[in-house]
Amino acid sequence: MVQVSAGLERVIAAATVLSDVDGQAGRLTIRGWAVEDLAGRARFEDAVHLLLDGFFDDLPADLAPALGQARVRAFAEVAALDEALAAREPYDAMRALLARLPDGDGVHDALALAAAPAVFTAAVLRRRNGLEAVAPDPALPHAADFLRMVRGAPATQGEARALDAYLVTVCDHGLNASTFAARVAASTRAGLGSAVQAGLSTLKGPLHGGAPGPVIDMLDAIGTADNAVPWLEAALDAGERLMGFGHRIYRVRDPRADALKAALSRLSKSAGALPGRLALAEAVERAALDILRRRKPDRPLETNVEFYTALLLEALELPPEAFTCVFAAGRTAGWIAHAREQQASGKLIRPQSVYVGPRPRAAA
Ligand code: COA
Repeated sequence: MVQVSAGLERVIAAATVLSDVDGQAGRLTIRGWAVEDLAGRARFEDAVHLLLDGFFDDLPADLAPALGQARVRAFAEVAALDEALAAREPYDAMRALLARLPDGDGVHDALALAAAPAVFTAAVLRRRNGLEAVAPDPALPHAADFLRMVRGAPATQGEARALDAYLVTVCDHGLNASTFAARVAASTRAGLGSAVQAGLSTLKGPLHGGAPGPVIDMLDAIGTADNAVPWLEAALDAGERLMGFGHRIYRVRDPRADALKAALSRLSKSAGALPGRLALAEAVERAALDILRRRKPDRPLETNVEFYTALLLEALELPPEAFTCVFAAGRTAGWIAHAREQQASGKLIRPQSVYVGPRPRAAA
């Protein structure tokens, strides 16, 4: 009997220098850095450099101006954001605009793809509110410019720092579903744009990058700490999953949740923002973990990255329907690096299936 590995669990399908997810110890290492250290000190452009280093001969040493220019190049495509596209979900509109970028393999292509989700997300959000898109300022750091393009007004340093912490925290994460999809596309020798499209399409679902928006819905529906236990019990009784909890690899707390919680508490200290919301979230988290432990004693289900993602992006006044776009704005850097690594290996990814359908009919 052939064994099918459903979900490819425990299958090792790539060797990578990019990141290591240690699910037992709850550690994420990105090119030699613990995620919490990287998130505390690196800007997004530093993380892009770290990931792409060695994958292009002509990678600029200082990526900030190169990414700034790449945002400007991407902005030219915003002209294609017509009413029909702007009426779609922000994620779909952002993905469609990204498909307009060249599908090459060069460093220019890579930087345009890494920079563009911020530009397109901002433009789509503004257009949905009946506002003109704001052009990038190539002289600004990426995170600060992202927030400025969304709001039409400068962000504070503390806010830009918090968004940097988020983008860096999610920039790469082993062979997650979207990164695997990006590597599959790259293994066919399709261009980096195609690999990013594969990653984007895979990130979208609620079991992967689509969870943080529903976390906000859950907190809103719970409303007060007293209501956490009955609400969560009722959701589980109805067969629902609690968004922001559980992970395929982590059997302990997701280290990214703590990196984001630290960024959130730095932000709330600098801006005096959201102490009530944070207290509600902590009460919901405690209740959810208690209930999940009781209901699933054999399956460790801990807080994952999406729970504090939701709170951090909400504190940055980004709307929940854009959260997955912002996730993609960080993760695109990882997809590009993985695509280059896969291309360098030269091997087509092509697993097998076992046929369980009917045998060929006898021809009449
Ligand atoms: N809430 C309630 N139950 C959960 C759960 C959650 N968040 N996550 C997993 N479970 C349960 C499943 O129902 C299943 O129970 P069963 O064996 O009685 O059917 C068991 O735990 C194992 O789940 P499974 O789907 O096989 O694990 P997985 O490794 O494939 O799942 C996730 C990983 C992330 C898809 C899953 O934990 C999930 O759906 N979480 C909610 C969505 C989310 O936060 N996604 C963002 C991930 S970063």
